[in-house]
Amino acid sequence: MIVTRNLTKVYGDIRAVEDLNLEVRPGEIFGFLGPNGAGKTTTIRILTTLTKPTSGNAWIGGFDVVSQPQEVKKMFGVVQQHLSLDRELTVWEVMELHARLHGLGSRERRKRIAELLDYVGLAKQAERRIGELSGGMKRRVMVARALIHHPRLLLLDEPTVGLDAQARRRIWELIRRLNSEGATIFLTTHYIEEAEALCHRVGIIHRGRLIALGSPLELRLRLGLAAVETLLDDRVHYRYFPSKEEATAYVQSLPPEVKMIVVRDSNLEDVFVELTGRKVEDGEDTEG
Ligand SMILES: Nc1ncnc2c1ncn2[C@@H]1O[C@H](COP(=O)(O)OP(=O)(O)OP(=O)(O)O)[C@@H](O)[C@H]1O
Ligand SMILES: [Mg+2]
Repeated sequence: MIVTRNLTKVYGDIRAVEDLNLEVRPGEIFGFLGPNGAGKTTTIRILTTLTKPTSGNAWIGGFDVVSQPQEVKKMFGVVQQHLSLDRELTVWEVMELHARLHGLGSRERRKRIAELLDYVGLAKQAERRIGELSGGMKRRVMVARALIHHPRLLLLDEPTVGLDAQARRRIWELIRRLNSEGATIFLTTHYIEEAEALCHRVGIIHRGRLIALGSPLELRLRLGLAAVETLLDDRVHYRYFPSKEEATAYVQSLPPEVKMIVVRDSNLEDVFVELTGRKVEDGEDTEG
């Protein structure tokens, strides 16, 4: 559904995306995980034809994003990172405007908008102004809007940023439902739990480069499924083992001066830290 080859975007001396090689398969939920400034939005902007790559190529559904933008635009719907809704408009008006942009006739518009608002659970909010809605509801309006032309691919840039746990779960449910009905999903996130809970495969991006790719389980397997944290000399040390049994055996071999021993499952945060020496949510990661 998405293929990129050596995709690169340079802004002055910032290499926002560098030599990105990626394939997103039809029907999967693919997560692009990385800290602030990693190059996630830049990648989405290239894929959605908003900005041109400096070099390299990208295709959506086999169409080249640079030379075939019209065909590409029919393939995808996008939910941008920043809220792009006019606060003064009603939910219905937002949908109406977008449907007109896509050339839907008046009867078709009415039917499709009603159907979509129902789908995202906002049928009762149709006449409310955007400014009166919660953050979660606004996100759902943006998802509904992105679906107006029945795209086969939905791109979501940090779809749950700033939402509370309940609103986040509703967005996850919506994404899963869309996917189970056949849509391919490409989303970006800097939330480890989001990548783990939602994505079939995850690409980890760091300073514009893809540094790991696989299912959450595959990525953890490479490191070891069991993690041991120990406190020694005021520092936390991490060790990884293929199994809980091996982790436990290691713990039993530790000298008594080792304090605070935790044995737990490894996670994608561990994978990220091992690969980069930093935590995902530390953010700002452009220099060096
Ligand atoms: N239009 C631009 N002009 C100059 N630099 C840019 C531009 N867009 C992005 N950058 C830089 O490129 C790098 C990648 O930015 P990008 O927005 O793609 O990261 P991101 O992973 O989406 O981060 P965030 O999690 O903060 O949204 C950053 O260093 C950013 O400052
Ligand atoms: Mg971004």
